Amino acid sequence: MSETWTSWLNWLHTTPAALAMRQSAWLYPAVEILHILGFCLLVGAAALFDLRLLGFSLHIPVQQMAAHLLPMAWFGFALAAPSGFLLLLPDAQSIGVSPIFLGKMALIGLAGLNAWVFHTRVGRNVQHWNQGVGPPLAARLAALVSLVVWVAVIALGRLIAYLC
Ligand code: HEM
Repeated sequence: MSETWTSWLNWLHTTPAALAMRQSAWLYPAVEILHILGFCLLVGAAALFDLRLLGFSLHIPVQQMAAHLLPMAWFGFALAAPSGFLLLLPDAQSIGVSPIFLGKMALIGLAGLNAWVFHTRVGRNVQHWNQGVGPPLAARLAALVSLVVWVAVIALGRLIAYLC
């Protein structure tokens, strides 16, 4: 583990925010509730869009579904990421070096890359498969990768409490 990373974690562990998260009886559970709300919105929106790309509800236009769900996913991320960072603070030294946590962060990055490739490449010709026809293989593969990766992120997130 790089020295820069561990010394950053050591610093995080001593910050006033970390102290407050350790000492307050209600702050940690309140932040965890925000984290749960955030990832439910994020992963929920992503999963519903992925199921459409896998061929469910072909009568619903993909573009309209994206216009409805993408802002929800971004709002969920805007809740989950900062609250997750706050949850890391009280045990930054131990959680921050654990393969479970680092694996989760890597998978979140992969999910983001997969979504970016879909929206900038695969989804560009959506007008050809917007409604009533099955999406192309590349779109279905992107949906499958997204579903598998988000389920893995949730699994690793849950394991943090047990294994870190
Ligand atoms: C953005 C996508 C994210 C998803 C889908 C996600 C998902 C989860 C899940 C399912 C849990 C278990 C919650 C529980 O059992 O109560 C969790 C816990 C946790 N997450 Fe995240 N998370 C995300 C982002 C982050 C980020 C960016 C960080 C830190 C920088 C983070 C740090 C944590 C920590 C420290 C816990 C353990 C909390 C505990 O068990 O008390 N998460 N996350």
